[in-house]
Formats: sequence, C-alpha cells, structure tokens
Amino acid sequence: MKTVSDDILIEENEDTFPECTSVNLANNHERSTILVGILGCGAIADIITDFASKGKLGVDLKFFYDQDFQRAETLASKVNGIGTRNVHDMLDYVDLVIEAASQKAVRKIIPHILKRGKDVIIMSVGALMDPEFRNQLENLARTNNSRIYTPSGAIVGLDGIKAASVGDITRINLVTRKPPESLGILTDEEVVLYEGKASEAVHKFPQNMNVAATLSIACKKDVDVRIIADPKVKHNYHEVQVAGDFGELKTTTRNMNCATNPKTSVLAAYSAIKLLKSLNEKSKIGT
Ligand SMILES: NC(=O)c1ccc[n+]([C@@H]2O[C@H](COP(=O)([O-])OP(=O)(O)OC[C@H]3O[C@@H](n4cnc5c(N)ncnc54)[C@H](O)[C@@H]3O)[C@@H](O)[C@H]2O)c1
Repeated sequence: MKTVSDDILIEENEDTFPECTSVNLANNHERSTILVGILGCGAIADIITDFASKGKLGVDLKFFYDQDFQRAETLASKVNGIGTRNVHDMLDYVDLVIEAASQKAVRKIIPHILKRGKDVIIMSVGALMDPEFRNQLENLARTNNSRIYTPSGAIVGLDGIKAASVGDITRINLVTRKPPESLGILTDEEVVLYEGKASEAVHKFPQNMNVAATLSIACKKDVDVRIIADPKVKHNYHEVQVAGDFGELKTTTRNMNCATNPKTSVLAAYSAIKLLKSLNEKSKIGT
C-alpha cells in the first residue's frame, strides 16, 4: 500500500497515474475509468471499498482521506489505494469525491472540492437542508462545471416521490423507528424522541436524519418527521406517506444496519454504489 505524504505524493503519482489529468465528469462522460476518492473512511466507505476490491464498482476507487489517518490507510490497503493526510492531496488526480464523513465535513470541505471542478457524492445530506449553503454549493458547481450527486440513501420510493413533486404534494410524512441504542438512549418502552419538521430534526439527530433531508430536498417540502426509539425492533425502519394530485403512496423500508455503525443502513452504502455504477451507463432507468 502506498501512503501519500508531502513531496512523495507528486513523485509517486506522476508515475502511477500518467493519464490522470483531472477532467471532471460533467466535462467528460466518455472517459473509461472514473478516478474516485473517499472523504470519510467509516461504515459506508468500508462497504463501498469491499465492492471495489471485488471489481464490482465500475470506477477506480484510489484515494482515501479520513481525519483518522489509520482508517484511511486500512481501507486503502484493501484496494492497493493511497491514504492521504490531507483531502487536498487527492484533488489533482480524482474526478469525483464521495463524502461519507459528517455534515461538518460537507460544510468545510465540499466547497473546496467543487471549486477545483471536481464532482461530489454527498452522503451527509442533512448539511444540504440549509438553503443558503445549498445555493452556495450549486453556484460553485455551476461556475466550475462540476456536479453534486445525492444518492437516495437509506430510503425507497424516491423516484416516485420525485415524479409526484412535478404535481402538487399536499402531505408528506416520515416515521423513523430505530433500536434505542442506535439513537443513543436506553429504554424498555417505545419513546417518541422527536415530532416536528425535518429542517429541525437534521440538527437534533444529524446522524439519523439523512433520510428526512433527502426526502425534503427531493420534493422541496419540509417533511413532517416522527422519530421513535423502539426496543422491539432490531433494524432501522422508515415509513413514508405521500399524498398529492398524483394519488397516494406509502413505503416501508426495513434496513439492515451496518456492522460497524448501527446508525447507518447498508442500503445507504448500496445507493452510493449503484450511483457510481450508473455514471458509466449509457441508458438510465428510473426518475
Ligand atoms: N444519505 C443517507 O441516507 C445516509 C445514511 C447513513 C449515513 N449517512 C451519513 O453518511 C456519513 C457517513 O456515515 P458512516 O456510517 O460511514 O459514518 P462513520 O461514523 O462510520 O464514519 C465516518 C468517518 O468519517 C470520518 N470523519 C468525520 N468527520 C470528518 C472530517 N471532518 N474530515 C475527515 N474525516 C471525517 C470519521 O473519522 C469516520 O471514520 C454520516 O454523516 C452519516 O450521517 C447518510
């Protein structure tokens, strides 16, 4: 495994990636290998890297950055990749960076990545609930010809909800039910921890409310949210109900939790993997 540090970075990578002139995906959809870096080497990154190690990702996952360098190194070693001590160290080479770190990382780091004309996949979607910040990112993407991708995450039915939002959505609500320990409490009884709007929920439960943020952004409404700590469940459940001029829909997702982070659902990582694979597809299905 190689480790990027200081001046070694330039020398090693000039040899290793002679063709890695950084051209972002918006500019060049024909390029055969999309070079990808990960920001945040936790549960989601681990699943994505496992797919990459089996050659099932469809892109070249090469660079790994985490505030805990050891984590970056550990994941990098699975794919003969490169752990970096600074996220900027990968930006000369990659086409796209997957953020799988935190809302704070999105606010602090994503603007710099977009300024460099690189595309981003954002997993910590709660950060995008701030309309001013979202506008800032969209303006940066426009100016620098880069793209911001937000996968559907730990939820199903987003395609239908996006289609429904073309018309008039009159009601949309989300009930999230999780084991108490994954919400950071201990209880023998069902407890409603929160009832209110998604915009507030993402601040109170930043690691648990990405689904509420994704829904809200997709349909441009501040979704009504109820969060329940339920000692009877072992998985993360999301129930979504939508009504509008299209009719009504109701979805229930029973998610398997990630082994290393019970707050996070496996489906969230899979949604990023599917998005990465779709970047190379010539025909797309689903809205
Ligand atoms: N979109 C969705 O549906 C969805 C679902 C689950 C999780 N998420 C979000 O995705 C993110 C990653 O989830 P996870 O389960 O992999 O988390 P995790 O806690 O397992 O891993 C996060 C990693 O990011 C690193 N990190 C955090 N802040 C950083 C920073 N500022 N700079 C560099 N590294 C940093 C941590 O050290 C850790 O290794 C979280 O914000 C989580 O809330 C989104």
